[in-house]
Amino acid sequence: MNDLGSIPDGGIGRDVTRRLRSDAEGVAEAARLIRSGRVVGFPTETVYGLGADATDAEAVARIFAAKERPHFNPLIAHLADREAALTEGVFDDAASRLAGAFWPGPLTLVVPASSGCQVCDLARAGLPSVALRVPGNALARDLLAQVARPVAAPSANRSGRVSPTCADHVVGDLAGRIAAVLDGGETAVGVESTVVACLDGRVRLLRPGGITRAALVDCLGFTLAEAVETARPIGPGLLASHYAPRARVRLDATAVRAGEAVLLFGSDEPQGMEAARAQFNLSPAGDLTEAATQLFSALRRLDAT
Ligand code: TXA
Ligand code: MG
Repeated sequence: MNDLGSIPDGGIGRDVTRRLRSDAEGVAEAARLIRSGRVVGFPTETVYGLGADATDAEAVARIFAAKERPHFNPLIAHLADREAALTEGVFDDAASRLAGAFWPGPLTLVVPASSGCQVCDLARAGLPSVALRVPGNALARDLLAQVARPVAAPSANRSGRVSPTCADHVVGDLAGRIAAVLDGGETAVGVESTVVACLDGRVRLLRPGGITRAALVDCLGFTLAEAVETARPIGPGLLASHYAPRARVRLDATAVRAGEAVLLFGSDEPQGMEAARAQFNLSPAGDLTEAATQLFSALRRLDAT
């Protein structure tokens, strides 16, 4: 049925995934499950995360198994507040400045792991660095405070699929493979956190996301080096196939082909719209923030047609 027979109490594959309400009882239960080594979907302000105790390699292994994620991808460790995050890594001037400006919020900082770093090797994919983030929404921070340990959490989708922005997406991808999902409604930002590496005295943008490059530059006072694609990518945002719906996607289409669904932005329309099987406009007004909140759910909706 699955390849997890070796994990004791490994609920994946035979779990009935519970949907927990975002009230005090639901949050307490989600925290209890994570503290006992289980995997729980929970909302951050960006997308839903698939959370497990980052200090427990067996718990982290259950995330990789549920997602069917390639093991070379390291995970982000989520902390309840800045103070807790600062103890897990070594922050140079740039990292301290970015943490001060954007935490809590949709920014992930990759920094050298501190000597007391609790995040296990598996969550860090064996790297000497660690990815840290303090999410911006109260529900996630409440959950993290109750877990009182770093929580490793990739986006709560199966590997290669679109990131989830509501609990139904998580259930659709992972029902039966995780213990529970904490239902906090729609996420506010709708795209993932911006990932920035502050290593070896350099600052690099590894993945674009909820914090714009302009905001980072504004905070730092200097421009950012681009990441380069390597055989072993430093961030999967750089893999050739990443946010992939099941349907084939054409970018910058100027004319609709038979059978295609169309994802629009602003007022421009491709030729032959009458042939479209389905359509959705990310922001008729051409607003990028509005478009970002819609992107993943729109891809899923059109993919379903
Ligand atoms: O908004 C988000 O960031 C969501 C929510 C749940 O927090 N999480 C998320 O996680 O998108 P994930 O696992 O899908 O993406 C984590 C990103 C990947 O691009 C990964 O390679 C990068 O962070 N990353 C993690 N640790 C790293 C490290 N030590 N060095 C370089 N990149 C790292
Ligand atoms: Mg992801």
